[in-house]
Amino acid sequence: MNILILGSGGREHALAWKTAQSPRVDKLYIAPGNAGTAQTGTNVNLAVNDFEKIGDFAVENRVDMIVVGPEDPLVKGIYDFFRQTTRLRHIHIIGPSKQGAQLEGSKDFAKAFMKRNNIPTAAYFPVTADTLEQGLAFLETQKPPYVLKADGLAAGKGVLIINNIEEAQNELRLMLEGKFGDASKKVVIEEYLSGIELSAFVVTDGVSYKMLPEAKDYKRIGEGDAGPNTGGMGAVSPVPFAGADFMKKVEDRIIRPTIEGIRQEKIDYRGFIFFGLMNCKGDPYVIEYNVRLGDPESEVILPRLRSDIVDLYAAVAGKNLHNVTVTIDPRAVTTVMLASGGYPGSYEKGKEITGLDKTDGSIIFHAGTKSADGKVLTNGGRVMAVSSVGDSFREALAVSNKNAAVIQFDKKYYRKDIGFDL
Ligand code: AMP
Ligand code: GLY
Repeated sequence: MNILILGSGGREHALAWKTAQSPRVDKLYIAPGNAGTAQTGTNVNLAVNDFEKIGDFAVENRVDMIVVGPEDPLVKGIYDFFRQTTRLRHIHIIGPSKQGAQLEGSKDFAKAFMKRNNIPTAAYFPVTADTLEQGLAFLETQKPPYVLKADGLAAGKGVLIINNIEEAQNELRLMLEGKFGDASKKVVIEEYLSGIELSAFVVTDGVSYKMLPEAKDYKRIGEGDAGPNTGGMGAVSPVPFAGADFMKKVEDRIIRPTIEGIRQEKIDYRGFIFFGLMNCKGDPYVIEYNVRLGDPESEVILPRLRSDIVDLYAAVAGKNLHNVTVTIDPRAVTTVMLASGGYPGSYEKGKEITGLDKTDGSIIFHAGTKSADGKVLTNGGRVMAVSSVGDSFREALAVSNKNAAVIQFDKKYYRKDIGFDL
């Protein structure tokens, strides 16, 4: 089978690494990929949202299946584009339809879906310019802090958490006026949930589902969870505070009703679901849905997956996932993300990365890297994820931290305290 993976981050390198282990794969392509994916398969210079060109490439190279890494092409409808184009119809897309992708692409759609399906989540109120007055009044009924979310995709920046009511009301106006462009033409105001966050993952064919390992990521740039949000600076799996009792509640109250809702509402969904959860005193609530795997969560959950991932893709595409057994490695996996100094603000690119050959015992997943003249250079804010397996998360972290120190590039930054709170 020939498989194309779309995307260029650590998640896509982890997907490529896992996919390449399957004996069912003939050719593996990654578009656009990075210096790491180039060693796992063949990089192809295609933009993830250029569906026409992706289609041309897929036909010319007899691609059987496309695994979509990031949310953007899913929300823009790559699944529907392939289904509706005669020459592309036979190519399987691992990812939801445009309608299914609304679970991530519109916070209002996701909240309404949860409400209809009795899935525990924060109370909410959707607001547009026409209903501003009601929105301002709803804020008055809430206790601080106030949570304001751009309805659409805003590259992870569309959520504001504000303590002061006047400031929240002012920000609501600014968002509706286009602070996050079209993404905030609609704003969802949410009740604030306090607790501790974690993420659960499933793969689904829209009828049945299989659990993948859960994970916790560390979103803040600074140690002790200080400073601005990033895409994620490290992750651990399993999550020590998510015991069997808690995960059973997650499955019973959240995952099963979500899949049942997708089935009943006839949403075509063949891909991954990432449940962003809050553990509020032992009860799980959904903070958000993502219609893809996470980054850096993929770099800890895929190394724990023992099953052949291509068997999973094929079962998802063929809608016979109920016939598949998924086995998970019980050991812990951790990842530590190496970032360019300055990230998530401005940073420099093109720094030579050395010491990769001196690491020992970790799997190095490239994120923002490229190769030039036989060298590996930095090419993004998050540069590479250092993943390690251990009998406990502490053992795994010791290896990740040791190798994070060995890899060198100018202005390298990483958090040395991943797992500090566990
Ligand atoms: P989201 O983009 O929806 O994941 O939100 C970004 C971050 O904001 C989450 O990871 C949470 O830390 C926080 N957050 C979002 N919604 C809420 C909420 N209702 N209560 C408390 N924190 C929230
Ligand atoms: N690490 C969070 C995400 O992938 O959205």
